[in-house]
Amino acid sequence: MKIGKIYFETYGCQMNVADSEMVAAIMKADGYETTDDVQSADVVIINTCSVRDNAERKIWNRLDFMKGLKHRNKGLKVGVIGCMAQRVGDKLFDSGAVDFVAGPDAYRHIPELVRETDIKPVVDTEFDIAETYAGIEPLRLDSESISGFVSITRGCNNFCSYCIVPYTRGRERSRSADDILRESENLMKQGYKEITLLGQNVNSYRFGDMDFPKLLETVARHVPEMRVRFTTSHPKDISDELLEAIARNSNICNHIHLPVQSGSNVVLERMNRKYTREWYLDRISAIRRIIPDCGLSTDIFCGFCGETESDYMQTVDLMETVGFDSAFLFKYSNRPGTFASKNLVDDVPEEEKVARLARLIEIQNRISLQRNKSDIGKEFEVLVEGESKRSSEMFCGRTQQNKMVVFDKKAYKKGDYVKVKITEASSATLKGIVIQ
Ligand code: SAH
Ligand code: SF4
Ligand code: F3S
Repeated sequence: MKIGKIYFETYGCQMNVADSEMVAAIMKADGYETTDDVQSADVVIINTCSVRDNAERKIWNRLDFMKGLKHRNKGLKVGVIGCMAQRVGDKLFDSGAVDFVAGPDAYRHIPELVRETDIKPVVDTEFDIAETYAGIEPLRLDSESISGFVSITRGCNNFCSYCIVPYTRGRERSRSADDILRESENLMKQGYKEITLLGQNVNSYRFGDMDFPKLLETVARHVPEMRVRFTTSHPKDISDELLEAIARNSNICNHIHLPVQSGSNVVLERMNRKYTREWYLDRISAIRRIIPDCGLSTDIFCGFCGETESDYMQTVDLMETVGFDSAFLFKYSNRPGTFASKNLVDDVPEEEKVARLARLIEIQNRISLQRNKSDIGKEFEVLVEGESKRSSEMFCGRTQQNKMVVFDKKAYKKGDYVKVKITEASSATLKGIVIQ
């Protein structure tokens, strides 16, 4: 029998990357093998994101391309999975390119869905609060990478008023610690050097009497030769206990991604973030006290409903006060079905959103450059990730603080830990020389 070939295309957050690897495992068990060549695929799976309108627009464009591909390859089946599959459902068939649609809790059914498409297009967007994909060992799709993801929770219960995720991913649930430890160990056995534990709010992890600080420490001690990272922490739940676990374990990376979203209390309240600017700044002080050399990054978006120039200036002020090493910056995008979409007015004009975002980017670039320049002369442990994009004579890798460093290759290889002294800095990267 001919073995079916499956091609994956993944958009959105790291959670989707982890999910594609799980779906790949499910499909492999059904007799498929993965391919990197879309032209030779029998099945194409597009794993999608709905977080902002432009993420969805990208997918509609991609489906146009798939329509052409299907025209040339009559047997080809195209599936859309992930957050946009959940949100948009059978309207995706309007593209003329889609055979099946599967939401984030329906992945075990995909082999069956593919078979059903022989008769007609199919949709499965049922939520299943019990689904944690227990017992499925992800099939790693990026064989070049030394860094792998392990999801520890699925879904989100926070209902920030602007956010679509609770509607696309359903209620929060934690995966068993045994599954997480087994996946981490398997990554180690396959030669991976770094794992990132994933959840929309990792701090709310709970399985039996295992909470997140305990889980993080247990994983770190289980795979002592690997670096352990995690994302995302919600500022309302980040405890001193967690910070102490990071400080105590040398292989838990000294880096925290702590999305603040806004520096204005009025806006934070309207966002339903459940913390204040003062609370956030207190958490930053705790981080600096307990983990003095901790890298810090954040997410911020401007132009939310009712954001005034003075609210916006408080965000700018908070950025200056904290001095984030880096930040993901966005402008508000109205998501149908959310509390904000139904009850608040999207009243900041688009030109104003664009202008505010441009200023945020400029400010953060300056801050990142300052932060990076302050690393010149310091020494860092860097995990070699691979060749630098700019030059095949150079390697790149990250510090524990999550900063990218470029340095001479010499006799080192991917996966090595090297000590690098920083000699130059731009806003995006550090350059250095290996000292051992
Ligand atoms: N669970 C994570 C965030 C997941 S979404 C957390 O709570 O921090 C990633 C980022 O996208 C968010 O942090 C936010 O900055 C941004 N985002 C989410 N919804 C958005 C929207 N409607 N418009 C613009 N940005 C949004
Ligand atoms: Fe969205 Fe808030 Fe949940 Fe993050 S915590 S995924 S921003 S609802
Ligand atoms: Fe996007 Fe869904 Fe992740 S909306 S950011 S892919 S959880």
